Amino acid sequence: MDPIKNPFSPGAGSPPPELVGRAGILEQARILLGRVKEKRPEKSILLTGLRGVGKTVLLNEMERLAIRTGYRTVAVEAHEDKSLAALLVPPLRKLLFELDRVAGAGDKAKRGLAVLKGFMNGVKVSLGDIEVGLDIDPEKGAADSGDLESDLPNLFVAVAEAAEERKVPVALLIDELQYFSHKELSALIMAMHKMQQRQLPMVLLGAGLPILPGLAGESKSYAERLFSFPDIGALSEPDAVKALQDPTQDVGVDFETAAVKEIFRLTKGYPYFLQEWGYQSWNRAEASPITLQVVNDASATVVRRLDENFFRVRFDRLTPGEMRFLRAMAGLGSGARRSSDIADALGVKINSLGPTRANLIQKGMIYSPAHGDMAFTVPLFDAFMLRAMPDLT
Ligand SMILES: Nc1ncnc2c1ncn2[C@@H]1O[C@H](COP(=O)(O)OP(=O)(O)OP(=O)(O)O)[C@@H](O)[C@H]1O
Ligand SMILES: [Mg+2]
Repeated sequence: MDPIKNPFSPGAGSPPPELVGRAGILEQARILLGRVKEKRPEKSILLTGLRGVGKTVLLNEMERLAIRTGYRTVAVEAHEDKSLAALLVPPLRKLLFELDRVAGAGDKAKRGLAVLKGFMNGVKVSLGDIEVGLDIDPEKGAADSGDLESDLPNLFVAVAEAAEERKVPVALLIDELQYFSHKELSALIMAMHKMQQRQLPMVLLGAGLPILPGLAGESKSYAERLFSFPDIGALSEPDAVKALQDPTQDVGVDFETAAVKEIFRLTKGYPYFLQEWGYQSWNRAEASPITLQVVNDASATVVRRLDENFFRVRFDRLTPGEMRFLRAMAGLGSGARRSSDIADALGVKINSLGPTRANLIQKGMIYSPAHGDMAFTVPLFDAFMLRAMPDLT
């Protein structure tokens, strides 16, 4: 059928034709935004889930919701090689300039800029040639100690006070949270703690790979009180069927029941894979309905495309030692695997695996769902590893 009319949208952050199965979490966000706007306390939301389950799509939807509710938004995506401070300074600077232009009495936006300037000196972030405000002197002693865990909360207070003065609530949206260091996450948590204590109108909506188990000690107990960590997962079978059928039915095309059942079986309901299978099946079908035969014919193409792109780009970033670690994990069946079993499969002592494991976590390939357990962050990556490396040699 006409590829131009294909309703499916495989791709990172591409909005699906229909955002199925996420009404509950969007309602939670609506309540959070409504309450913080009225200065009532509510837990911030950090979406956690594996690769390709739809976290970015949800975060973008939440940003639209925030804007409709009257919020200013600051949206950033974390990277492996960029610090939290370097990431936040430019959009916070822009926000403070905007707040300064909003009609109203008071000079807290200007003070915010002075604190920001101090903060930049403290943590040594520069904006290249851009100046924060030529006529503004950095404020001394507010957020310029150089210790992120005390400076970031103070910076957030200055920004949020400016927002409060102009009666504009602020939503901070941060994707890929798992790339921050422990110290950065802990500073962020402490900053949000200050927001809540002082009932300031600033809220955090975040997304990332499962991070809560990785948070240590003090930050962890704080985080549990301040945030809710909804687990964004695969879709249930009825939702997966809806995600496939509704968009095609809108344009007068049907799926055979056996065809959608097979796609669910192959994808296990993972949103990204549903989009890929829907997309290829549509292109391959001659006419409505899309049959089981069409899906079977499309599957070879989908698996090849996933192997060549989605899985391969991740595989290619691995060292030989990391590949062997993942191959050993894949050989242990599905679900979480004990680190000790991985060591046994590789014929090495468990302690010697530490650095490889740490690198794989840092690269976002695996995470620890519970102490001593390891799991893949990319759904169906285990099956790919077995195809890519038939032997563990
Ligand atoms: N609720 C949903 N129903 C159907 N498809 C969805 C749904 N949510 C997301 N998708 C599709 O899944 C794919 C992945 O979405 P997205 O990029 O938001 O995932 P992600 O969790 O951010 O992944 P990553 O961890 O790799 O960043 C997209 O093609 C999107 O269209
Ligand atoms: Mg994403």
